[in-house]
Amino acid sequence: MDIKAWLKEQKISAEAYDADDLIDRFLDEMEKGLNGEASSLAMIPAYVSAEGKVTADKPVAVIDAGGTNLRICIARFNDAGGIELSNFNKQPMPGRDHEATANEFYAVLADALEPLKDEFGSIGFCFSYPATIMPDFDGRLLHWTKEIKIPELVGKHIGAGLIQTLEERGIPGKQVVVLNDTVAALLAGLAQGHAFNASSYVGFILGTGTNTAYVEHNENIGKLDGYLSSGSQGINVESGGFSAFKRGAPDLQLDARSETPGGHIFEKAISGAYMGSLTLELLQVLASEDLFSDSGAAALSIMKDLSTIHIDNLAGDNGRDTGVLGSEAFSDRDREIMKSVFLSVVDRAALLTAVNIAAAVVKCGTGQDADRPVCVNIDGSTYYKTCQLADKVQAHLETLLGERGLHIRCIQVDDAPVVGAAIAGLTTF
Ligand code: BGC
Repeated sequence: MDIKAWLKEQKISAEAYDADDLIDRFLDEMEKGLNGEASSLAMIPAYVSAEGKVTADKPVAVIDAGGTNLRICIARFNDAGGIELSNFNKQPMPGRDHEATANEFYAVLADALEPLKDEFGSIGFCFSYPATIMPDFDGRLLHWTKEIKIPELVGKHIGAGLIQTLEERGIPGKQVVVLNDTVAALLAGLAQGHAFNASSYVGFILGTGTNTAYVEHNENIGKLDGYLSSGSQGINVESGGFSAFKRGAPDLQLDARSETPGGHIFEKAISGAYMGSLTLELLQVLASEDLFSDSGAAALSIMKDLSTIHIDNLAGDNGRDTGVLGSEAFSDRDREIMKSVFLSVVDRAALLTAVNIAAAVVKCGTGQDADRPVCVNIDGSTYYKTCQLADKVQAHLETLLGERGLHIRCIQVDDAPVVGAAIAGLTTF
């Protein structure tokens, strides 16, 4: 059996796609979403402002509710513009391993914030899920992604619930601004971008989930002031929802088995929460093709899940934990096949990621001048750690943006969600 040809038939290969066509589709869906027409891209206005500089030495509480972890700390900027973080509290995101209630979720937040109550006035809440941002800077959860199960919170104002819980515990007078992690990444990139005269900004995340924020330079869309020119607005694309691309049978099976069938299907093709599971779908089909050793095929057929990290460690041959993949059930040849299948999943993810970033850059409308590139702040462990991924994305971007005469500079900011949430917490009220 020619595995490479089979993977292409399953649409698990960059060669199965036409990148230019995909960029056009992305842009089309973005435009529709902005105009309020039916679209797989939510295009949510961010409403946060980065007006003026952040005040130095003023503490702000930061919550970073990501797909895997929930992190809470106190942040303050020093005179040099650096951020200092203290009182760090890190735990698994509630609702990740089993269903949680709204009360359980808020209790976790309030337990961490209560001992710090005299240290902060406002809270920057980086909430890495699709939420409509309200005029009072709260966020209303549209739906969960990344397999999180706290159904009671869907449709609820996330910040208001936290303020209420704090008040019930006798902690009044706190204010909260909710922002998406990609918007936080965009804000976290402002200082570096400003220093190299960036013409616009993109915040892109590829971790457990994926998403993009960019600046819509449209005078009719409100404004995001400060380093960004007035008459522009940060938009949370919710790019993980993009659905105007063809999927193969394994994509459809993975989607059907997920917590949100039909939802966030682009994310299910490229993000850390799903690349391992998608690889397992493929391997389980191949297990009936007589390619694997008997014990390998048997082991694969009873596997319920495959973590992206384990298969990535195998592919990267980096000596780190490969879980069951390192067991005696698999022969070396089995492992070679598993590696090559995963690398094909990564190959497609790299192309789709580049298409996504390129579309956001095109939509910014700037970057024609090499001296004024678009600043693309990329965050997320899947992007940086997955074998071959970042290099392939950069190579695709060079081609796709080169053809369009557009210039970008990709940057990385440590703890971008925390930095962006701290900026929002300090500049919003
Ligand atoms: C969420 C986005 C988030 C992204 C990256 C997705 O699952 O829908 O809101 O920005 O993950 O964390």
